[in-house]
Amino acid sequence: MNIAVLASGNGSNLQALVDAEAKGDLADGKITLVVSDKPEAFALERARKAGIKTFVLGADGFSSRSEYDKRIVRELKDEKIELVILAGFMRILSGYFIDEYDNRILNIHPSLLPSFKGAHAIKDAFECGVKVTGVTVHFANRELDAGPVILQVSVGIEEEDTLDILEEKIHAVEHKLYPEAVRLFTRGKLKIEGRKIRILP
Ligand code: GRF
Repeated sequence: MNIAVLASGNGSNLQALVDAEAKGDLADGKITLVVSDKPEAFALERARKAGIKTFVLGADGFSSRSEYDKRIVRELKDEKIELVILAGFMRILSGYFIDEYDNRILNIHPSLLPSFKGAHAIKDAFECGVKVTGVTVHFANRELDAGPVILQVSVGIEEEDTLDILEEKIHAVEHKLYPEAVRLFTRGKLKIEGRKIRILP
């Protein structure tokens, strides 16, 4: 199963997935394309180092979100991509994109959704003073950070934790959880029943 990873930044989750694939942990999933809207994204370096094809497309010059997404989707289809993984891709997908890859787009979010949606989830949870936050992997739908939840793991916030420490703890959990969710998908173990995802044995 050909997989594309979309990333705008550091790409540590991309790296975790690349490493998982190398260990045979993505079942028949193969990361064959990395897409970025930012030419300077470190994720692109990681992709090149792993020998994965890259596609960079800045948003300048596109009249709308769906015009941009049409170009991306064309590339995904040309590359016969069957699963799209959002890994720190800092653009909201259009309805066009979501429909073209209906139930085939995964996202990872650094909080226990539906708490702390948005781009600053770790900081927001830290500043809010909650004692527990976590990581969510979910299907992307037309609403931001709101699709059906696949896996969630909680992360405790201790009194002595700084924001940096919390970020480290969250990322460590992400790097285990995302490969696990992808493996469940590629093995056909995720059954979608409305809002609920049943994990088959
Ligand atoms: C992660 O925290 C992920 O949950 C969020 O964006 C961040 C991406 O980090 N969606 P990286 O680029 O994979 O290191």
